[in-house]
Amino acid sequence: MHDAPTFRPLELDAILADAHRAGFAMSCEDRTGSLLATLAASKPGGRFVELGSGAGAGSAWLASGMSPDAHLTTVELDPGVQAIARRHLGHDPRIEFVTADADTWLTEATGPFDFAYVDCRPGKYLRLADLLAILAPGALYVVDDMLPQATWPDDHQPRVDAFMEQLPEVPNVRATPMRWASGLVVAARV
Ligand SMILES: C[S@@+](CC[C@H](N)C(=O)[O-])C[C@H]1O[C@@H](n2cnc3c(N)ncnc32)[C@H](O)[C@@H]1O
Repeated sequence: MHDAPTFRPLELDAILADAHRAGFAMSCEDRTGSLLATLAASKPGGRFVELGSGAGAGSAWLASGMSPDAHLTTVELDPGVQAIARRHLGHDPRIEFVTADADTWLTEATGPFDFAYVDCRPGKYLRLADLLAILAPGALYVVDDMLPQATWPDDHQPRVDAFMEQLPEVPNVRATPMRWASGLVVAARV
């Protein structure tokens, strides 16, 4: 058995090539993307949110699993990097690109969402309760990069440790940590 993905979004290679040219090294890895697509397919017609669009690799994977009537809102602080995602995925009417600080977006967001892929500090290391508050019961919550990454700043490990330590005490999620790919937590809102 190997764990290489068995499918690949059409736009992915072009997104990764543009991300590489732009010096953006934080796209999700393929195994994580494949899991995102699989989980996305379990929410037909669902409302999805991604915090931290990056160059759009995660969005492409999510979209490849989403049904035609599902909707993804993807939020990114940096318009330059999000421009790559917009260029390659802007044709997909299911995806709404928001250029904003996810912290601000969380203040104004109205749920319920059926799926959250959180890939920046707000909604993960900050304001987890606010993110969970806009998820429907049964919604999935996925975070990655919980194992040390080359792109981490020097002071990042304590944030990850604190997140993992508090997780069992969070009342409204059932979470499974996974030492797989970049290190994931897959959780369901209860
Ligand atoms: C790990 S990358 C995202 C990768 C992408 N989700 C994927 O799967 O390919 C994290 C992104 O979050 C963005 N970011 C950082 N802080 C943010 C914030 N406060 N609000 C929104 N985006 C933020 C960064 O600019 C970066 O593009």
